[in-house]
Order: sequence, then structure tokens, then C-alpha cells
Amino acid sequence: MVASPTDGGLSQRLFDALIADYPDHRPGTRPVHAVGIGAVGYFVPSDVAPRFTVAEHFQMERVNVTVRFSNGSGSPVESDAAIDVRGMATKFHLPSGDSTDLVMSSLPVFFSRNPQDFLDLAKAGEPKPVKPQPRWSRLTDMLLLREPRPPADPSSPNSGTAGVIAYANCHPFARPAIIAALTQPAPTSYARATYHAIHTFKFTDPDGNVRYCRFAWEPVAGVRPETRSGLPKDYLHTELRQRLMRGPARFVLRAVVGGQGDALDNPTKGWDTTRLRVVMGELVLTQLAPDAGAAVEPLSFNPTRVVPGFDISNDKVLVARGAAYAYSCRQRGGTGC
Ligand code: HEM
Repeated sequence: MVASPTDGGLSQRLFDALIADYPDHRPGTRPVHAVGIGAVGYFVPSDVAPRFTVAEHFQMERVNVTVRFSNGSGSPVESDAAIDVRGMATKFHLPSGDSTDLVMSSLPVFFSRNPQDFLDLAKAGEPKPVKPQPRWSRLTDMLLLREPRPPADPSSPNSGTAGVIAYANCHPFARPAIIAALTQPAPTSYARATYHAIHTFKFTDPDGNVRYCRFAWEPVAGVRPETRSGLPKDYLHTELRQRLMRGPARFVLRAVVGGQGDALDNPTKGWDTTRLRVVMGELVLTQLAPDAGAAVEPLSFNPTRVVPGFDISNDKVLVARGAAYAYSCRQRGGTGC
């Protein structure tokens, strides 16, 4: 069940702001995470999982899953090798016939404390003509031992990067996520990156106790950034296809249990690194989705599609995402919105 409060047009503004950041957006595709690939498999909850939550997918039974990996950009032609955030959206097909989703990205924290922050950042990131760097400024960079700015790319004369950096300079809370997004190298494989749900969710255990948790998928094969250059534009897709023909790809679901002083409703802030970590189960991806993933592309994944025992927190960004994803799914003619 997706949380979809009436939001006074906020979903549409969020959607339009994303479209404005990617002028080559193709109607009928997602406004972000446009390039994706689907895989299927199952999730096996760990022995301790039922002690933390009564949610259906963490009981004794194995649960079938559909996963969509993606590149963060809304551009339908972005290369897999681009410096960008990667996404992993998982749908658990529950024994009851219902489904629930986890939508994660390779960013450990987010840019925005609330939807208005996000709209401001999206505005700052609208592509503008790239000005060539003046000679005096190149000289200053050299004298201060600053990394030289990359030369302007003649194939894309417009960029939002300068606007995003200017935004980060004025908004300290957004800096950790912006630095991560602008520097994160592509992985060697979609199955060799860690993905974070970022927001806080609420677990309810069999005795009715509530715990605040954050989640991540940790790749069993280990994290490995790509260092080679000149890779084919779709190498992550080819790699996943070949990997799954050799054997399954596995991820462990890690829950971190929040404590005193942790920011429960603010996704720009990380938590105390000494918190209790619990392995909630293992995801086993066995093959690419049938029909080259044709059924997965239209599918809606929504971070507020939760079930009893696994609830959303009061994080305003998370709540806004619920309605924005449903709106976006309808706009692109998706399924299961
Ligand atoms: C205000 C904040 C955000 C807004 C407005 C937003 C908006 C959107 C929209 C409209 C889509 C397309 C949905 C669809 O058409 O089905 C999307 C996809 C996605 N977003 Fe976000 N997003 C936000 C924050 C985040 C965060 C914090 C994460 C990571 C935890 C994230 C990860 C993803 C991923 C992985 C996808 C692709 C899902 C798929 O494969 O279907 N987003 N986002």
C-alpha cells in the first residue's frame, strides 16, 4: 500500500523539476534513473529477522523478488561508465499476494532535508551553457595546487554541474551528498556496489516494540569501483547478463538500528557508526528478467509501498517521494502505480 497524501501539486512540481534537469528526457521513461535493467530471484530472511519485525517478508519463508538496477541520470543515452549515482529497486512478491518495495541508491546520504530543498537544488542544477575557464583562474588553480577543471565537453555544451557546486557552497547540509554524487565512480558491476535506502523506517517486533532502522544492500562479491577507461556504453548491462549466466549474484540486507541522538527524519545526516547492525537476510538474483526486462521497465517501485511491521518514518522527503513516484509512474504510463 503506497502512502499517497494529497500534496497540493507538490508531486507535479517535483516531477517537472526533474524533467527540467534532463532536457533529453524521453516521454514514457522515468524522469531520473532512466536507464535500467531487470533481474529476478528470491530473498531468504535471516534467523534473527523475525525477532525485529513482523513484516511478511522477514518471516521464515523465502520470497520471490524483482530487481531493477539503474543509472541515476534522467538522460536515456547516458553511458554506464559515467560518474553517477546507481540505483537498486527491489520488489518483494509476498506470499499473501501483496508486494512491498525497497528503493535504494549508491548515495549514503541525501541532498535535501525536505521537498523545498530538493526543488531549490533541482533549479540550481538546470543545464546552462558551460563558460570556458578564464586563463587567470587556471593559473590560480595551479598556484593553489587545486585539481584542474576538466575541459569543456564539445558534445554537451550545457551542464548543471556549476550550478550544483554553487548550491553546495551555500548549503552545507547538502555537501556530503553532492560531493558523493559528483565523484562517485561507476562500479565494475551493478552487483559490486552498496546501495542505501537512506531514510529511516520503523520496524515493529512481535511484542509491539518499535525500532527505527536504516537499510543497505551489501554485495557479497564485494564493492569494486571501475578504473578502466574506454568501456562500452552499456558495459554494466552486458556484465550483469554474463555474471548471471555463470551463477547467482548475492546481496546481504543490513539494518542499522538507530539510537539516542540519531537524526530520524533528516536524510542529509548519517548516523553514529557504532550502532547495532543486523543482517536481515540474503538476496539471490538468479537471472535477468524475462523478455529482456520488458515487464520490469514499466513497473512502479515506490519507497512508501510498505507492509505492517515495516513502516515509513516522518521524513518529509520520504513522504513526498511516495506521491511523486506514483505521479511519475502515471505520467509515463507505467504499471502498478
Ligand atoms: C525528493 C526526493 C526525490 C524525488 C522527488 C525523487 C523522484 C523520483 C522519481 C519521480 C522517480 C521515477 C519513479 C517512476 O517513474 O516510477 C525516481 C526513481 C528513483 N529514485 Fe528517486 N527521488 C527522490 C529521492 C530519492 C532517494 C533519496 C533515493 C535513494 C534512496 C532515490 C532513488 C531512486 C531510484 C533507485 C529510482 C529508480 C526506481 C526504479 O528503478 O523504478 N530517489 N525518483
